[in-house]
Amino acid sequence: MIFVTGGAGFIGANFVLDWLAPGRAAVDEGVLVYDALTYAGNLASLSQIRSHPGLRFERGDICETERVLELLREHGPRAIVHFAAESHVDRSILGPAEFVRTNIEGTFSLLEAARTYVGELTGADRDAFRFLHVSTDEVYGSLGPADPAFREDTPYAPNSPYAASKAASDHLVRAYRHTYGLAVLTTNCSNNYGPFQFPEKLIPLVTLNALQGRPLPVYGDGSNVRDWLFVGDHCAGIRAVLERGRLGETYNIGGRSERTNIDVVRAICKLLDELRPDPAGPHERLITYVKDRPGHDRRYAIDCDKIERELGWRPSETFESGLRRTISWYLGATDWIGEVTSGRYREWMDLQYGD
Ligand code: NAD
Ligand code: DAU
Repeated sequence: MIFVTGGAGFIGANFVLDWLAPGRAAVDEGVLVYDALTYAGNLASLSQIRSHPGLRFERGDICETERVLELLREHGPRAIVHFAAESHVDRSILGPAEFVRTNIEGTFSLLEAARTYVGELTGADRDAFRFLHVSTDEVYGSLGPADPAFREDTPYAPNSPYAASKAASDHLVRAYRHTYGLAVLTTNCSNNYGPFQFPEKLIPLVTLNALQGRPLPVYGDGSNVRDWLFVGDHCAGIRAVLERGRLGETYNIGGRSERTNIDVVRAICKLLDELRPDPAGPHERLITYVKDRPGHDRRYAIDCDKIERELGWRPSETFESGLRRTISWYLGATDWIGEVTSGRYREWMDLQYGD
């Protein structure tokens, strides 16, 4: 079995759903999801596999080292896939402490539990064990318009408290390889989108606001650039790294799909005009330029040549096909949206966008 932290969050849930999907003949082992169920974690995202015999769920915090160690001893996983994190840049600007606790202390705690657990394994079990750390391209900082894309050897230059906390966690993971020989792998991925993404992030936030006729907040002049990858392609990349990645290596994962934010928002509006026309007029009328994010990184771009060349991974969705799938999913996900946009969600929307 594999031990998945943050498996009730956006990417983690997609990863677990893919792992246990019917017909995935290559994978015949269960998953233990370990998740604190913060505002971003929701068991509704796993409801379609609720009674799958391969799924186990334990609610808990990654900072609880002893508890994690007990679970590792009890279930004997061959890998930890570590998604659990505080993941939203705007929240890290308003309240960085939780990012330091979860992303830095939490990753440290998990590494300690893994180190003890692996020390107790022997032979083939010990050789087979992997710790896969899921990280972000934001650790590399911000690019100018003509700069080459981030490579695995691009120096770290994190700019937000979120990015700095992820960078620190990457360094800890690296150190546990170097010092203790722990069998680690790290992935650094660009912006994901797809089903089950919490509607604080650009694509689901704009989609839900547009459906309710509310303003579509675009930070600054909308010209900041992100590279977008459909979440299923990210999950496939993580599986490839887990199975075939070279120990101690980092792999960049990206979609080769750079878009300005305003182009992303316009693309969502056009899809909604087609799929759910609003009698009041085109959805673009709702676009509202708002105060910029402090320290807002200008541009991210990923050079994913290494994972393509070494592991044969390629994205299967274009931005256009992936966005259509995503918007169609949100249009049909009324129950899930109802679950996640409760009191705490409205509090965040008021705090961030109220004025
Ligand atoms: P998310 O915010 O949707 O989910 C995070 C999950 O972690 C939630 O289920 C939450 O309950 C859980 N969690 C938070 N704190 C915890 C704790 N202390 N103990 C146990 N569980 C805890 O995040 P996401 O977008 O799915 O991102 C997953 C990982 O991928 C993160 O590490 C993030 O940095 C990384 N990443 C995200 C993106 C992206 O575009 N979303 C891109 C690259 C990398
Ligand atoms: O690059 C990978 C990162 O992508 C991940 O590590 C993070 O976990 C994930 O949240 C994401 O970070 P971003 O800050 O790029 O994502 P977000 O969806 O918050 O914003 C995308 C862009 O859209 C960014 O330039 C800010 C802008 N934006 C965002 C929001 C929420 C707006 O213009 N308006 C908004 O209301």
